[in-house]
Amino acid sequence: MGFPFINLAAQHLEVREWLEPKVRTVFETGRFIMGDEVSSFEREMAACTRTLEAVGVDSGTRALELIWRALGIGPGDEVITTPFTFFATVSSILQVGARPVFADIDPDTLNIDPASLATRITPRTRAIAVVHIFGLMADMPRILDLAGTIPVIEDACQAVGASINGRPAGSWGRAAAFSFFPTKNLGGAGDGGMVVTSDPELADRVRVLRNHGSRVTYRHETVGCTGRLDALQAAVLRVKLPFLEAWNARRAANALAYDEAFGRIGFGLQRAPAGFVNVRHQYALRTSDREGLIAHLQAEDVPHAIYYPVPAHLQQPAQASGAREGDCPVAEEISRTILSLPVCPHLEERNRERVIEAVAGWRRA
Ligand SMILES: Cc1ncc(COP(=O)(O)O)c(C=O)c1O
Repeated sequence: MGFPFINLAAQHLEVREWLEPKVRTVFETGRFIMGDEVSSFEREMAACTRTLEAVGVDSGTRALELIWRALGIGPGDEVITTPFTFFATVSSILQVGARPVFADIDPDTLNIDPASLATRITPRTRAIAVVHIFGLMADMPRILDLAGTIPVIEDACQAVGASINGRPAGSWGRAAAFSFFPTKNLGGAGDGGMVVTSDPELADRVRVLRNHGSRVTYRHETVGCTGRLDALQAAVLRVKLPFLEAWNARRAANALAYDEAFGRIGFGLQRAPAGFVNVRHQYALRTSDREGLIAHLQAEDVPHAIYYPVPAHLQQPAQASGAREGDCPVAEEISRTILSLPVCPHLEERNRERVIEAVAGWRRA
């Protein structure tokens, strides 16, 4: 019998007792847009990321797009980013008419390589969009050093709860974007996102943009959008937030069991530098015979997934910005050889053992 790659049904059972009354209250008050749930969740996320301001929006992609707009980034501007990410990092840059410029990644961390990043800075560089991929933060101390006055924006969509030397993801850059897509480490019952920043002017611009460019009802100072976080999503996320630390610890325990089992048989793994806490949004390994491993896992009924089969710079919409095959050889190679295994907090121990057995069995064969 198979088991799910991500077990959201088991997660629901753990929180149901608190979730159901909370959702009922939102319906009873009829406050679906903004209100206490949204502002309380914003305060809680600001506290959890140690930032001064948090602005709830309707997705992680929107969070990024509104950061670019609030920074005034648009046509003619370049934003340096990583090709090894979910495409939304890049589509948010394209959305505002700016040009994504791709730096290659470090094969050990899978995050943007500061040395490659340094070679991509030009007089047109208006921002750097780092991604904390799979829950491991990019090398923020080195990147901030290189960036000087260029704003560094954290795409922390996969990294809520991650940190470097105790300082959380979201608090390092000028601003950061979080996603509450249901399968994220902190996931809602639909789409949701958050911008966090300690720059009050930037937060103010994002707040106005997410709400039709309006601060006072029926007075519009700019062209905004319907970009708010729903009160229902905020209510769900407030119930789940107190569980986040324990869930991230369970992810870490699963990853540690894999590291111990697979480290012995020599797979390349995402290595966290000293002081970095990886919240293990994904657990990935690499093999030159990915097709063989997939066939074996399918035969053993073990779920698996490829994040990401095509690097962002080779996606069709990025072609107009001049990106070509060969620009980021490490990311291209990783995309051909990477495979993710189930690591979610609700993975049962016996299923984790099945994953280990299946991978080790394939290796022995
Ligand atoms: C790295 C990264 N950036 C951006 C996003 C976009 O977030 P959303 O799906 O909430 O728009 C996601 C997740 O989906 C992501 O993993």
